[in-house]
Amino acid sequence: MPRPDQAAYMLRAAAGAAGRAYKQQLLELLDIRAGQTALDVGCGPGADLPALAERVGPEGTVIGVDHDTAMLDEVRRRTGGWPVVEIREGDAHALPVEPGSVDRAKIDRVLMHVARPADVLAQLHLVTRPGALVGLVEPDWDTLVVDAEDVGTSRAFTRYTTSDVVRHATIGRGLARLAEQAGFTVETVLATAPVFRDFQDADHTLGLGRNMQRAISDGYIDEARGRRWFASLAEGPFFAAFTLVSVICSR
Ligand SMILES: C[S@@+](CC[C@H](N)C(=O)[O-])C[C@H]1O[C@@H](n2cnc3c(N)ncnc32)[C@H](O)[C@@H]1O
Repeated sequence: MPRPDQAAYMLRAAAGAAGRAYKQQLLELLDIRAGQTALDVGCGPGADLPALAERVGPEGTVIGVDHDTAMLDEVRRRTGGWPVVEIREGDAHALPVEPGSVDRAKIDRVLMHVARPADVLAQLHLVTRPGALVGLVEPDWDTLVVDAEDVGTSRAFTRYTTSDVVRHATIGRGLARLAEQAGFTVETVLATAPVFRDFQDADHTLGLGRNMQRAISDGYIDEARGRRWFASLAEGPFFAAFTLVSVICSR
């Protein structure tokens, strides 16, 4: 069960400058045409569904899949009135979608969380038609940099995030390889670096306080040092960034 504010947070993150920029770029590269069937795997609260629906038009279909009931409630509430959008409950490892039926698909910041990313890519290969385009977006958390005078603690925080917090923390760098191994042809690989200047936003998205607390509890970072580091970030001025990799591939 996600925290109750998680859907709202995902929508805010998508609507921020960095979120808008890479999502817009992905949509353009997906070259979605009227009448097509577009699939959003791990659609969350549905940040991208309006743009997909607009592009496929009244003759097209948009399918959003997620396994989280709270996300599904929220996305159904938000898209209830749109006839072209179908929301389906399901697992990315066993997509509830007919094989060979999808023209365009995207999966955005989901593979880092799933049990078996290669199996999810195999499912995407199965449900797409020959000639389909698929967009994959994932971060590489090894590249997380947080500015602080205590650089050693920033490095320790990044190492803790990659080793103990995110399931497939370095999947961003492997996306093109995984896509090719699943049978796709990689058309474009892009890397962008979302920048955070607002401490509260970064704290929410990057889990600065929450993951530092875990790192302290696990004995990974000394408590006094971790608390000083976090307090210094809150004082500002603040800067953090990480690399987000986008891959467009064809079936
Ligand atoms: C970080 S959110 C991204 C949401 C959306 N893709 C976006 O760009 O705003 C990750 C989403 O993936 C979903 N998810 C994670 N693992 C999944 C799985 N195995 N099957 C289906 N959905 C999954 C979560 O429930 C969550 O809604």
